[in-house]
Amino acid sequence: MAESVSVLISEENVQKRIDEVAAQINKDYNGESIILLGILKGSVFFMTDLAKRLTMPVQMCFMDVSSYYDGTESAGDVKINLDLDISIKNKHVLIVEDIIDTGRTLYMLMDRLENRKPSSIKLAALLNKPVRRDFEINVDYVGFEIPNKFVVGYGLDYAQRYRNLPFIGSLKFSED
Ligand code: IMP
Ligand code: MG
Repeated sequence: MAESVSVLISEENVQKRIDEVAAQINKDYNGESIILLGILKGSVFFMTDLAKRLTMPVQMCFMDVSSYYDGTESAGDVKINLDLDISIKNKHVLIVEDIIDTGRTLYMLMDRLENRKPSSIKLAALLNKPVRRDFEINVDYVGFEIPNKFVVGYGLDYAQRYRNLPFIGSLKFSED
């Protein structure tokens, strides 16, 4: 099986859209300081490009989580592989994620984070696949709505590869 990648969203369009999303976030928070919480590893490029465009005081931190599915209709659970090293109590938290697919991971993570009593939690995702949604979550800031295709690049991987592509590509498999 050979893989090939075709450009779905160009580097230029990704960057232009992040300008717009950052402008909206700057407007909404109106100078209030925030904690940017990036979900490793897929969010790193979006996180850094977004952070550079924010004008309020920003703290940056990361979590690494994996959701597992127990094969039933229940949400399963989220495993925290790397936790925060700061308290989010009474802070405004903006979660930064690469893509929301079924919504399972963020649904469970946001539930866990609510218990730590932040002043607010919002979610910014570079990509959103709304047709795949199984878990009701509100995505406050969306870069692009995309169809049900497997995408790589700009942080997103297939078997840990392609994260370093500067654009969003769609991955195709062909026999040969
Ligand atoms: P969810 O819990 O189903 O929303 O899955 C979210 C996670 O699955 C994302 O954070 C990605 O790591 C991964 N994922 C979902 N769709 C894609 C894709 O098209 N390409 C690469 N990773 C994906
Ligand atoms: Mg992810």
